Amino acid sequence: MNRRDDLKRFTYPERLIHWVAGLSFVFLLFTGLAFSHPRLFWITSLVGGGSTARVLHPWMGMLFTGSMAIMFLMWAKEMVIKDRDLMWLKAIKHYAVHDKEKVPPAGKYNAGQKLFFWSMALLGIAYVVSGVPMWLPGGALGMGPFYGGVVNSMRLVHYLSTVAGGGLLIVHVYLGTIAYPGTLRGMLHGTVTRAWAKLHHPLWQKEQSGP
Ligand code: HEM
Repeated sequence: MNRRDDLKRFTYPERLIHWVAGLSFVFLLFTGLAFSHPRLFWITSLVGGGSTARVLHPWMGMLFTGSMAIMFLMWAKEMVIKDRDLMWLKAIKHYAVHDKEKVPPAGKYNAGQKLFFWSMALLGIAYVVSGVPMWLPGGALGMGPFYGGVVNSMRLVHYLSTVAGGGLLIVHVYLGTIAYPGTLRGMLHGTVTRAWAKLHHPLWQKEQSGP
């Protein structure tokens, strides 16, 4: 699969953590959707039934949070927004219609990818902060330390952040697969073609080629 001319885009640990976060997030979205309306509860049968889904959802949430924390430590430095990213954002409408000539050249990540990273990092915090009170309720519902008012307002935060994260994920998956062929390969096998890098991340491609 890999050719001599290909460029290394993601290391094995980067890909492993990305897919742990990706797959756990999809699991969370589907089980969360099942809990959101009685008509959708049938979805839990795909993971072994309602009680199994209820037990697995928060633990999977812990796995997602842990993988996001590692992803954050691995990538935060590369995701710092620079001046050239602001220029890229100004030209985002040209990027959306694949008018490459009018889009300033991107480094390893473009500004859209960087914003996605920071949004998911913030949403990751919102999920865990709002999810734990629902996991450990007190009073009639359980022995935990969190009570009615807090649990209910956290439920709203959890719902709203899920809608935001779910929407962002759809865009992310679309851009990484259908919209830009050759991108998924980097996250599966670790390498991309030089032509792909030159087209989508020209500054990074130049850096990789050396002086
Ligand atoms: C489950 C389906 C997913 C697919 C198919 C997918 C695909 C990809 C691909 C192909 C890349 C490489 C982009 C490049 O080389 O420029 C990537 C990068 C990345 N992915 Fe995912 N991903 C998925 C889920 C997720 C989830 C759930 C998260 C976070 C919670 C996530 C966070 C990231 C981040 C932060 C990057 C680096 C920046 C970026 O490219 O946007 N991914 N993903």
